[in-house]
Amino acid sequence: MQQQVLYTSNVNATLSTIIEGGNYNAVMVLADSNTRHLALPQLPCLENATVIEMPSGEASKTLDTLTGVWRAMQQCGATRHSLLVNLGGGVVTDLGGLAAATFKRGIPFINVPTTLLGAVDAAVGGKTGINFMGFKNEIGAFAPACHVIVSTTFFPTLPEQELKAGFAEMLKHAMLSSSESFFHLLDTDFSCINYDTLLDQLRDSIKIKEDIVRQDPHEQGPRKALNLGHTVGHAFEAKALADGHPIPHGYAVAWGLVTEAVLSHLILNFPSHQLYALASFVKSNYGAFHITCDDYPHLLDIMRHDKKSLAGEINCTLLHSCGDYSINNTISNDDITAALDIYRDLVD
Ligand code: GLY
Repeated sequence: MQQQVLYTSNVNATLSTIIEGGNYNAVMVLADSNTRHLALPQLPCLENATVIEMPSGEASKTLDTLTGVWRAMQQCGATRHSLLVNLGGGVVTDLGGLAAATFKRGIPFINVPTTLLGAVDAAVGGKTGINFMGFKNEIGAFAPACHVIVSTTFFPTLPEQELKAGFAEMLKHAMLSSSESFFHLLDTDFSCINYDTLLDQLRDSIKIKEDIVRQDPHEQGPRKALNLGHTVGHAFEAKALADGHPIPHGYAVAWGLVTEAVLSHLILNFPSHQLYALASFVKSNYGAFHITCDDYPHLLDIMRHDKKSLAGEINCTLLHSCGDYSINNTISNDDITAALDIYRDLVD
């Protein structure tokens, strides 16, 4: 099923129109402990909805939480003609999407992302899931929301770090799309964000993702392009977590993009001016993830065990240049080592 992404500065009006037109016998809203208090009061159209609250944060993306959501839906008598509204960031939309996709073999749901990262990535494209036995998104389903309502309404109260984290996924989309989109985003100044401009940029960014997902909804081929920056980024993220100093996913992606742009330069001649522009933007806005040569074996080991790797070989999406990507590149230990060295020279 095709999902409809709607862009609005009035989430309540947009959601209200959809609910009124849907003739649902019950409306439920899944919120976390933050969005229940910060976002839900801004949506009077949900005042009669059954509120299902889950704890916030990645640690709550579990089977226990999912069971709690199923139980709450059953207790309020939900049927296939009921609607679940997922109001939150990626944890809420991933888990809520899976709850809706599996309850009575599937009920309709709407994603209302409240973070930039959620809007640009998790809420769009039909991936749902929970973490299981220590693995991220181990259990899940491809199940598109009927609608995704995208707005910057909830963003002004987000910490700057949260905005930057989401922006890294926008950078990724721009790099997959064209050098114009890429250089346009590099003009962004986080100290004076214009939320109307950001909504326009979000629309462009989400369209890039939608175009790729439309070609390959179940990630058998072209959708792997969306893994740009994530092979190295996930390794940085996993290492930081193992060391007891977790880093935001989007920051890991920003540093992963730089390292994979270096790999692209070494292997596919990715233009050096695009690489330097990216590295300089990332260094000034995200700082650096500090690593030494002693960390390389651990990082390589994580990359070899990544979901995207095949037969223990490191696999990356790379770029010939912005807008011209290549999926399924096998990366040698020498290349990744050289790329990590250059990443440290550029950013660290
Ligand atoms: N987050 C990448 C994708 O949706 O495929």
